[in-house]
Amino acid sequence: MEISNFMRDEHRRCDDAFAKAEQAVNRGDFTEALKYFEEFMIDTLKHFDKEEEILFPAFEEVTGNTEGPTRVMRYEHNQARGLFEELKKAIDQSDKARFFSVADTLMILLQQHNMKEEQMLYAMCDRVLAPQAHQLVERMRTH
Ligand SMILES: [Fe+2]
Ligand SMILES: [Fe+2]
Repeated sequence: MEISNFMRDEHRRCDDAFAKAEQAVNRGDFTEALKYFEEFMIDTLKHFDKEEEILFPAFEEVTGNTEGPTRVMRYEHNQARGLFEELKKAIDQSDKARFFSVADTLMILLQQHNMKEEQMLYAMCDRVLAPQAHQLVERMRTH
């Protein structure tokens, strides 16, 4: 399996869980919202870890470039991590307005982030990491 396909599927799964959390908040069902939000947060944090600990270091090693796209992606992961905490707090306090205000910011950040990865970084990974793609995908699958 190509790196880009594997990673794109993970983005989609995270998007789905977040959409369910948003629907639950909209209904005012904060128990259900917490369940889906935690699923989204755990999966997304795991996805970030796979990138930061496996994929990005492999890319940086092969290209010799540690100051380029992977640096920007790591920075954006940290921005997202901060927003997860704020969203968790909004759910804990059953604060619908606060949740959607932060959710909008997070969705803009993540949509642009994922698009940059899918259209640029993963495409580059498919090319420069082709010889080790299978092994990298297996490591990320079991990480
Ligand atoms: Fe990322
Ligand atoms: Fe990603």
